[in-house]
Amino acid sequence: MPKSRVRTPPPALRFIIMIISITIVGTAIWLMLPAYITNASAAFFGGKTPIDRGVHLCGNRLLGDGKTYEGLFKGCSAGFLCGLLQHLYNGSFGSYPRFVIVLLALSAGAMLGDIMGSFVKRRLGLRRGAPLPVVDQLDFVCGAWLLLFIVARDWFSSNFSAEVMLVVIIITPLLHLLTNFIGFKLGMKEVPW
Ligand code: CTP
Ligand code: MG
Repeated sequence: MPKSRVRTPPPALRFIIMIISITIVGTAIWLMLPAYITNASAAFFGGKTPIDRGVHLCGNRLLGDGKTYEGLFKGCSAGFLCGLLQHLYNGSFGSYPRFVIVLLALSAGAMLGDIMGSFVKRRLGLRRGAPLPVVDQLDFVCGAWLLLFIVARDWFSSNFSAEVMLVVIIITPLLHLLTNFIGFKLGMKEVPW
């Protein structure tokens, strides 16, 4: 009996698929970089003044001590600045004044999503820092996309194709794990996740 062979695409086609994949991953990282920097900077700089001012709701903190004004403002500023430099490099965030709105949505939206994530965690009775997989890694992405969808819908839909969004959803948790591990190795985090 003839053996059935798994058909692999010819080398030229494989090369084209590889180039397209690299392009999509590069686009995803480039477009999300202001939101990534916002999130990472909030964690890096941290702060002391809780946004919820210690207020409780149904026995649990509204947001918890992990969400501070300092983290919020330093995170947003760093993300916005990063986006500004990217925009000066290749104008990828739209024409003026659109790019200002896009960058504000990416940075403030990331922090909004992060805050919404903590709000959900506290309502589930999880203490500050307790892991909630998927929410921990993707809350800031959802916040950034939500705000972009509200304030810059045309830019959002023409730049975030379905493939780019899928790649963001796949690579963000991986990048999150990697940065947390680096933070742990540098002694800035107590747990490597
Ligand atoms: N951070 C901050 N202000 C923010 C967001 C983050 O100061 N608005 C800092 C806090 O020091 C926080 C750290 O970044 O501990 C990591 O952020 P995150 O993982 O979102 O907070 P957690 O401490 O894990 O708290 P939560 O359970 O609410 O997610
Ligand atoms: Mg956390």
